[in-house]
Amino acid sequence: MVGTKIDGLVVSSAVREQVKKEVEHLKSKGIQPCLATVLVGENPASATYVRNKQKACAEVGIKTKDHKLPSTITQSELNSLVDTLNKDSEVHGILVQLPLPPQCNEFETTSRILPAKDVDGLTPQNAGLLTMRKAALKACTPSGVIELLQYYSIPVEGKNALIINRSNLVGKPLIHLLLEKNATVTIAHSKTKNLSDVCKSADIIITGVGDRTKFKLTKEMIREGAVVIDVATTRLDGKLVGDCDFEDIIQKASFASPVPGGVGPMTIAMLLKNTITAAGYGRN
Ligand code: GUN
Repeated sequence: MVGTKIDGLVVSSAVREQVKKEVEHLKSKGIQPCLATVLVGENPASATYVRNKQKACAEVGIKTKDHKLPSTITQSELNSLVDTLNKDSEVHGILVQLPLPPQCNEFETTSRILPAKDVDGLTPQNAGLLTMRKAALKACTPSGVIELLQYYSIPVEGKNALIINRSNLVGKPLIHLLLEKNATVTIAHSKTKNLSDVCKSADIIITGVGDRTKFKLTKEMIREGAVVIDVATTRLDGKLVGDCDFEDIIQKASFASPVPGGVGPMTIAMLLKNTITAAGYGRN
């Protein structure tokens, strides 16, 4: 069996078209949606991600305010910038690209963002609301995964869904989004015993280890007809790769997402969607 490719470029472009219409609607009411991006240091991958996010904003009519800070910045300087952006009435969404340099505390920084401008869904308030099915701003990569499952009408209810990632940005929010869809959710991580057996019992696997020297998901590890969504992005011999080789996994999966061209474009599309949601707060 050869499965169906989950095409993040197709799905993300449908989301972007919808966002474009909503931007027009907001503009007709005198609201110019605006995202502030904060990039600290010179991590080339982070710089590329932020550039791509800004480009995507421009394409749908969302304004961006670009903040690049040196890697030597102190926590208090970073806090001051977040405070300024919180107060800036032109700014609807704030994205502090992670990771931050070691002298900066990610939790302190992201927690300082006003929940109404928290387009990453990382503040304790939005993360907590998500557990209660009440969040309006949800983490972008997990909501992108759900959007992909919905677009391809992949049944989730009652399925064994395995998440191989426990980060605040991906694994933890995804638990709640999959639970909302009535999946039976398992989280695996570096201390999980018999990961191969755990993978074999999963109907849906969302994998995001991101280190091929430690983990690679192969067709031998999954059950026939499993759905595999690869959220990892790492460089291997100069190429962008996920946790799977798409051509291998698709031999046995019913659906699988490639890297690049899978979840990556969805993360950006959901960021645009969150920015529109934030811009629409308190108005209609
Ligand atoms: N670094 C990697 N992915 C993300 C993301 O979705 N948001 C932020 N802020 N940083 C990231």
